[in-house]
Amino acid sequence: MTDKVKTGVEGLDTVLNGGIHENSTVLVSGNPGTGKSILGMQYLAHGVDEYDEGGVYLTFEETRDDVNEAAESIGIEGWNEAVEDGDIIIYDKMDLLEETEFSQTLTHILDDIDSDSYSRLVMDSLTMFEMFFESEQEKRTYLLKLIDILKHNGFTSLLIQESEAVFPDRDIGLEEFLTDGNIYLAQTPTKSGANRYVWVAKMRKQEIDTHVFPMEIDEGGVRVHENAAGFSYMSGENVGDSMGVDDRGGL
Ligand SMILES: Nc1ncnc2c1ncn2[C@@H]1O[C@H](COP(=O)(O)OP(=O)(O)O)[C@@H](O)[C@H]1O
Ligand SMILES: [Mg+2]
Repeated sequence: MTDKVKTGVEGLDTVLNGGIHENSTVLVSGNPGTGKSILGMQYLAHGVDEYDEGGVYLTFEETRDDVNEAAESIGIEGWNEAVEDGDIIIYDKMDLLEETEFSQTLTHILDDIDSDSYSRLVMDSLTMFEMFFESEQEKRTYLLKLIDILKHNGFTSLLIQESEAVFPDRDIGLEEFLTDGNIYLAQTPTKSGANRYVWVAKMRKQEIDTHVFPMEIDEGGVRVHENAAGFSYMSGENVGDSMGVDDRGGL
């Protein structure tokens, strides 16, 4: 059995029964604004803070400053320091688009990184990366290659997916099948803001709590209320009912 890697997101590691397996590739999906990027940043900052594990953040944001400002605004503990010290390395849009072949770019990036010191990686987002492929066939080949490269280099990775809706309002994609784990984030509007949820739908080789749990985003980042009564995703007549949303979906 491999070791578990803690995400450092309060409550989530309990739902995950300790964390995610070392060297696995986990898909984090959700609509825009559900907290995917924040969760990814927390994951990297936690690795540096607690375990001295360096992190790599591949982002299609315009600049590193955009990322750092986002981290500062939500108050990700230790982010700026880790970036300044080189414990978290950010590759922004310009870096990622330097070469036409993305797998080449990735290989170059990973060649530059001492893989003994860097073991956590976040790709924000896989969806953006996939836009560079013209055909489904090409996309599939690259997705397989990407996962292979990440594992081969010893990374435990979060691949972020921007989605319009989640299963069953959307077909399950190849991304879900090819990754070791699937975590969905969702939000439903309320008068005062949003109700937020997390659902760990799949995690290979480990026991997980597959209930849907409420979560919050505030100072410090994402916090999962793992002690709240989780509810079953499929328990209602339709999922919209059980999630308290209307039938236009969302989650
Ligand atoms: N400082 C903050 N305080 C409270 N909530 C915040 C703060 N910064 C961002 N958020 C919330 O987090 C959401 C963005 O999270 P983000 O991780 O960027 O979403 P995603 O990557 O899924 O699009 C915002 O829509 C907002 O609701
Ligand atoms: Mg984002």
